[in-house]
Amino acid sequence: MSTTDIATKVQRRRTFAIVSHPDAGKTTLTEKLLFFGGAIQTAGAVRARRASRHAVSDWMKMEQERGISVTTSVMTFHYPIPGAPKDAPPAEVNLLDTPGHADFGEDTYRVLTAVDAALMVIDGAKGVESRTEKLIEICRLRDTPVVTFVNKLDRECMEPLEVLDDVESKLGIACVPMTWPIGMGKGFRGVYDLAHRRLFLFKDMSGAKDERMPAEGIPVDGLDDPRVDELLGDRADELREQIELLEGAAPAYDHELFLAGKQSPLLFGSAMNNFGVRELLETFLRLAPPPQSREAITGQAVLDPPPPGEPVPTRVVDVAEEAFSGFVFKIQANMDPKHRDRMAFLRICSGRFDRGMKAFHPRLGREINLGNATMFFAQSREIVEEAYAGDIIGIPNHGTLKIGDTLTQGELLRFTGIPSFAPEIFRRVVLKSPLKAKALAKGLTQLAEEGAIQVFKMLLGGEFVVGVVGQLQLEVMKHRLLHEYSVEADYEATDFNTTRWVSPLSEGRSKDEVRKSMDKFIRRNEPNLARDGHGDLAYLAPNRWNLQKVEERFPEVRFSGTREHT
Ligand code: G4P
Repeated sequence: MSTTDIATKVQRRRTFAIVSHPDAGKTTLTEKLLFFGGAIQTAGAVRARRASRHAVSDWMKMEQERGISVTTSVMTFHYPIPGAPKDAPPAEVNLLDTPGHADFGEDTYRVLTAVDAALMVIDGAKGVESRTEKLIEICRLRDTPVVTFVNKLDRECMEPLEVLDDVESKLGIACVPMTWPIGMGKGFRGVYDLAHRRLFLFKDMSGAKDERMPAEGIPVDGLDDPRVDELLGDRADELREQIELLEGAAPAYDHELFLAGKQSPLLFGSAMNNFGVRELLETFLRLAPPPQSREAITGQAVLDPPPPGEPVPTRVVDVAEEAFSGFVFKIQANMDPKHRDRMAFLRICSGRFDRGMKAFHPRLGREINLGNATMFFAQSREIVEEAYAGDIIGIPNHGTLKIGDTLTQGELLRFTGIPSFAPEIFRRVVLKSPLKAKALAKGLTQLAEEGAIQVFKMLLGGEFVVGVVGQLQLEVMKHRLLHEYSVEADYEATDFNTTRWVSPLSEGRSKDEVRKSMDKFIRRNEPNLARDGHGDLAYLAPNRWNLQKVEERFPEVRFSGTREHT
């Protein structure tokens, strides 16, 4: 297949995730988007799908009991590209689901390294909440473009200008409203589409059994059009005043700034009422970028990383290159409890994937079979026939694939930017039976390879400390250690609250100096130092104040909150 043909296929793809604080409306919105995409026929299907998946899965019973989802999956659907000719093929949309409950894991963060854009949902009454702030921080690592949806306008919300302020001050992203709300709560009348000069009038459909398509907008000749008064009555002047204020307060849309993650187009609506969702989807598809080229380490450096401070050879892998490549960003265990296999989720970065093809695994130096690669739809999964950059495929395997692994067609490559994130909760693992020490080590290593937990082996004493981003991972881990490795383990609290990976800063210093200063750092801080699952050195700190002190005391050491997978 020629590079032009591949480029055409890739251009139509949009791969994104929804980021939000729990309860802002992510599940509701996902459901409506899938409905518009024809991937589901009825409301409630996403929740229903979750329920039925739980039923077949053993350890996920725990999730079911708690009514939350630990898994992250991918949903693919098609939608006509706005503004494209009628006979043009539709956009192929890959929506990556991120676990949204307060108890979520590192997986959620890492999903964001596999998308080209994000859709941020904000509860209009609450503004930007803590989880959203964290997720957007991760988007910033790659300057991912963000489109914002302010949800629940059918309730009393913050003043719209206040919401804009909140996003700017908390996230440092300038908002550009594409629509503007008319009233809110009981007085919510609809939204005004600023670019297309249309009015969308709100109708409460929360009690409706079927999903009706929302009304087409009513075109008006700007806000001075007398029809605006006819349609909105006493709300018309209020809208005019607000838009006038807005013109002074919000910048004009700048596509380059959006692509750089510095400006966010913003729309208002009510996901539950299916109001503003179609405009959101169409705006998103119009503006969000197709899959982008990515940087990768090349050659021998993939296998033997050069010493710190020395340049690492990289090249940009173009999405339209003929050779297939991709990276693993998530491992899901026990998708099929009968087989004990693990599903590796791979984001394709270039070339074409064909059913039955083999791929080269640079870390292992051999080919692996991709025969059973699967693609995910809202209600089913299917064997993949062909796939391109931006698509996510699931590869069943028994541990050959780890997070951060790259697959190619022979070239030594490793995609960068698939980090581990510093955990926030630390527990010492205590064994009930000392005879199980070996099984514990094996279990912890494998669970760490899946990326849901991180394991640290303390330099002093050699005991295991596990670190997680969300509390739930601790429970999952305990359950799985018992059921899969027959290890009964418990946790003890630790003094640690945060961690940083440490490495020497070697610029302008001789090898000897670097070694000496690192030795000194290790000697002075041994009780707080540990090796992670990859053998890398980490400093575990009781609090930020302590961390800051150590950072100041050892300026020749680099402290990093994320760690690249090697
Ligand atoms: P999440 O995935 O982000 O956690 O949020 P989810 O969609 O589950 O929505 C959280 C709650 O907010 C749900 O209510 C949902 O119905 C409600 N909601 C979502 N969109 C809107 C909206 O536009 N307006 C209003 N008023 N509410 C909205 P719940 O009572 O927790 O669940 P349910 O019984 O409705 O399923």
